[in-house]
This record gives sequence, C-alpha cells and structure tokens, in this order.
Amino acid sequence: MPASLKGRSLITLRDFSREEIRYLLDLSHRVKKEKHSGKERFKGLTIALLFEKRSTRTRCAFETAFGEEGGHPVFLSNADIQLGAKESIEDTARVLGRMFDCIQFRGFKTSNALALAEYSGVPVYNGLTDDFHPTQILADLMTVEESKGRLEGVKLVYVGDGRNNVANSLMIGCSKMGTDITVASPHSLLPSENIVTMSREFAEKSGSLVEITTDVKKAVKDADVIYTDVWASMGEEDKLAERVKLLKPYQVNSTLMESTGKDNTVFMHCLPAVKGNEVTAEVVDGSRSEAWNQAENRKHTIKAVMLATLGLE
Ligand code: CP
Ligand code: NVA
Repeated sequence: MPASLKGRSLITLRDFSREEIRYLLDLSHRVKKEKHSGKERFKGLTIALLFEKRSTRTRCAFETAFGEEGGHPVFLSNADIQLGAKESIEDTARVLGRMFDCIQFRGFKTSNALALAEYSGVPVYNGLTDDFHPTQILADLMTVEESKGRLEGVKLVYVGDGRNNVANSLMIGCSKMGTDITVASPHSLLPSENIVTMSREFAEKSGSLVEITTDVKKAVKDADVIYTDVWASMGEEDKLAERVKLLKPYQVNSTLMESTGKDNTVFMHCLPAVKGNEVTAEVVDGSRSEAWNQAENRKHTIKAVMLATLGLE
C-alpha cells in the first residue's frame, strides 16, 4: 500500500495521484472477490455517517461494508445533529474525532467536509457535496474496467448537467486515469472553467482527452460509455421545470445509444434515475446498462477506501 494513503481524507480525487487511485481500484477488485470471506478488519472501530442530504446507495455501502467486517457505523442525520447550527462545525469535528475512527459526510458545502477533516484529526470521506462525489467515481472507474477491461483510451461521454458534482468528479477521475471524457451540455450548464482547466492539466499527464461541447449527437460518436445523471441535483429541486425544457434534447434514449456507431456502447448512471427525464426506462433497465453494477461497486470501492486510509490493508 502506498504509505501516503494511511490517515488520508477523501474530499476530492484532485488530491490523489494516479498511482494512489490505481491502488484503490486494485484493492476494490480484490475486496469484491473476497466478498463474504468472514474477515473482520474493522473490528473494534467506529465510523460516524453524517447525512444532510438523502441517500440509499452511499449510506448502505458505508454501513454494510464497515459493519460486515466487525465495525460499528453510527448514522446521524440532520434530525440528530445539525452541523454548524447547534454548535460550530469545528467543535462538532473535535468531539467526533475523540469518539470515532473515521467520518463520512454527505451535505451541501465542501468546506464543511474540509473543516471536519481539519478539526477531527481522523479520515473524512466525502459521500457527496454540491461540488464533488469522489466515492461514486471510484465505483464508476471500477465498473468501466470490468466492462471494457481497461481505463486507458476508453471514450466516456457524459450527457446532461455538466456543472454538477458527478460531472465535476468524473472529469477529474477520468482525466487522471487516462480515460477520454467528453461533456455534452447546453451552454448554461457547461462545466466551469476551473474544472475544465484542471482536468486538461491531468489529461496532458495521463495522455487522455477532455472535450466540452453543446452538440450531443457529435459528442456520442464512437463512445464506449454514455453516462448521465439527474437534471436537478439535491438542493436544486426548484430548477427542475426549467431544466426539463433545457435538457430534453440531451435525454439518453435508444436512438442516442445507437448513434455512437458502436454496438457495444454501455450506459452508466450513478442513480437514483428519473426515468423519462435524463434516461428512458428502456435504456437504464436494458441489457447495456451498467447502472446496477455501479451501485454494487459503491460498496467495494468504499470498503477499499476505508481499509487503505485506516491502514488496514
Ligand atoms: N449514487 C448515489 O450516491 O446514490 P445515493 O444518493 O442513493 O447515495
Ligand atoms: N447529482 C446528483 C447525484 C446523486 C447521487 C445529486 O447531487 O443529487
């Protein structure tokens, strides 16, 4: 294990080298093979699971991965503690750091995840903020490897809201790992200049490409993977009506899947999906959908991150 991983927090993949991500993916594949092996690597340890936003996959992945190996997860929603309301985030972090071995945070502000990491002194895992969703992207990269046998030279096209947490993290993860990424979005939802510049710097090192366009038909040509996410992320529900109008031409349906010119293009989605909006039921429930494998791989990749950062592997 790269010694550098022990004690680390995962707030964004930007902070992880290509070698470190490679190590986490290799460990994830190993962990998946060892399923039900009866190991108890988290025995005697505790994790705090802080959720300001809802979750099915992320919560269940953390709880089952940690719990099945003897660890004790404690779920704390906004109904239980209010970060920054009842007491400052720094003080909450200090207290949690005295009682828990690690912390998962899902919420709005990335700055809260950073403050938790700084003041708790234990590894903090970003389970989704407005800006990033790094544990999702580890599962996505693992799924691409299972499906295509490699990451390098694979063309992944993300279609839809190009400014959200999943799009940002995909751009970072793909460009670091040598996967070509194209983002196709309407003008007002194109990725920020900052993420584009950063990803292009990573891509230059890894030998991959980062392309940004509003032309979805051209974008998907030769795609190995078409990926989409909801049109209105958590916290943006009031924007849904305008997004539906704006993003209708970016729906992933059978016609779009067929216009890649490849017969083995797969479909990916972090889930939850709104069928009939960003993707049709036919595609997400169809034989080329990797969405359910991605969901399962959340658990294996999250277990790998916890093992590595707790120095247990
Ligand atoms: N993909 C994902 O993070 O799902 P949840 O919101 O259900 O955790
Ligand atoms: N972009 C979505 C991802 C959900 C896993 C959201 O933030 O709601």
